[in-house]
Amino acid sequence: MNEEMMTLEPRGAGDVAAGTAPKRYFVKTFGCQMNVYDSQRMADALAADGYSATENPDDADLILLNTCHIREKAAEKVYSDVGRLREIKAQRKAAGQQTTIAIAGCVAQAEGAEIIRRAPLVDLVIGPQTYHRLPDAVRRARAGEKVVETDYAVEDKFDHLPAPKPAATRSRGVTAFLTVQEGCDKFCTFCVVPYTRGAEVSRPVGQIIAEAERLAASGVREVTLLGQNVNAWHGEGADGRAWGLGELLRRLADIPGLARLRYTTSHPRDMDDGLIAAHRDLPNLMPYLHLPVQAGSDRILKAMNRKHTADDYLALVERIRAARPDIALSGDFIVGFPGETDEDFEATLDLVRKVRYVAAYSFKYSPRAGTPGAGMADQVPEAVKDTRLQALQTLLNEHQADFVGALKGKPVEILIERQGKEPGQVVGRSPWLQPVIVDEKAGGIGDIVTVRITGTGYTLYAEPL
Ligand code: 5AD
Ligand code: SF4
Repeated sequence: MNEEMMTLEPRGAGDVAAGTAPKRYFVKTFGCQMNVYDSQRMADALAADGYSATENPDDADLILLNTCHIREKAAEKVYSDVGRLREIKAQRKAAGQQTTIAIAGCVAQAEGAEIIRRAPLVDLVIGPQTYHRLPDAVRRARAGEKVVETDYAVEDKFDHLPAPKPAATRSRGVTAFLTVQEGCDKFCTFCVVPYTRGAEVSRPVGQIIAEAERLAASGVREVTLLGQNVNAWHGEGADGRAWGLGELLRRLADIPGLARLRYTTSHPRDMDDGLIAAHRDLPNLMPYLHLPVQAGSDRILKAMNRKHTADDYLALVERIRAARPDIALSGDFIVGFPGETDEDFEATLDLVRKVRYVAAYSFKYSPRAGTPGAGMADQVPEAVKDTRLQALQTLLNEHQADFVGALKGKPVEILIERQGKEPGQVVGRSPWLQPVIVDEKAGGIGDIVTVRITGTGYTLYAEPL
């Protein structure tokens, strides 16, 4: 999944349960969209336990860092962040206030008790499969216990995590994430996810529909289904048949109010006919697909254990484009995987030239302990990785600029998501995920309107039609 650092917005005082002492929590979220979703669910659990949110860690009785382990830099960041909390904890203690520091997410799952050994400041370590136990774990930590909850719970956390109040959902905006699948069985040789998020598990259809209906009833217009391998989702439909993600999307497309559907992140091997047909048939399924390929050389794809060739991927892209000609693709790339030669890297550039992605996330290979890649011979020197990353990004940026440049003068349908920075402006999003700034005359938050693109760059500008 893509990485973007985000801090969750604070929530209304209405979330505090009556009769309990008001306590405050501060959440900082690292990593992918699933962590954003998880932070919201943890916030819901804390709200049900009488906590309210604060944006200021100095005011927080509970400081929760929801962490990412995907690359080394992301994981190390946690320790430097914890270090910076030492002062806050000491100052609050001097004022007679207790501060509980909790580490959640993939670093918590991967390192467990080691985190407390390395950073004794931490009181609580909790892995993604046990978030429903967070309020209880916090209580134990506040009673003086060092708590480590990283087992894979036998019970389904989603059965135990409380739903947010409608007001809380509304305060999060008109777009929402909804996790439908977690974990990964693919074992790409560079990746820690199968170890941190465990085996592939799909949430049941009924649970997903109920959550989507609840979101829609609170005013959410766009839902993005999340999973580490979202298109590996499968379940038993209301009709008793086996459903894949395509059938699930068809069902969700019928929910009144839900105007836009998206899903991420997909593996090329799981793009089945039912899902491709959903792109052909469902106007609410946005014409945008994040379909990571990682590399363009068959030798490297094999070493990465991707289980497909470059040609397999290109043929798949062709089928998807035949079903939905206006679909835009985005991808993830790794440069400098062990053994990658100049020729291998050229094959990646070739593939990129053929696909022409509208957005992409590209990374230097980062060896992760416990994954097969870390032990492979022929690790690529950092300087070579730097050069390749730059060359790749230059090419990707050209394609991205061409795509948005071509939108100039065209009518585009946007979902208006929020107020703009300037008075009188609102910010919407195109079907292809670009932010679009337009005069508020175009419509209000939650409206889907057609505007004409007048200026392009990272952000698009538009005029009402
Ligand atoms: N090094 C560099 N990039 C990685 N990714 C996953 N593991 C690594 C690693 N060890 C990238 C992949 C994946 C994205 C979420 O992060 O491109 O698709
Ligand atoms: Fe990691 Fe590969 Fe699974 Fe994606 S498919 S989460 S890259 S192991």
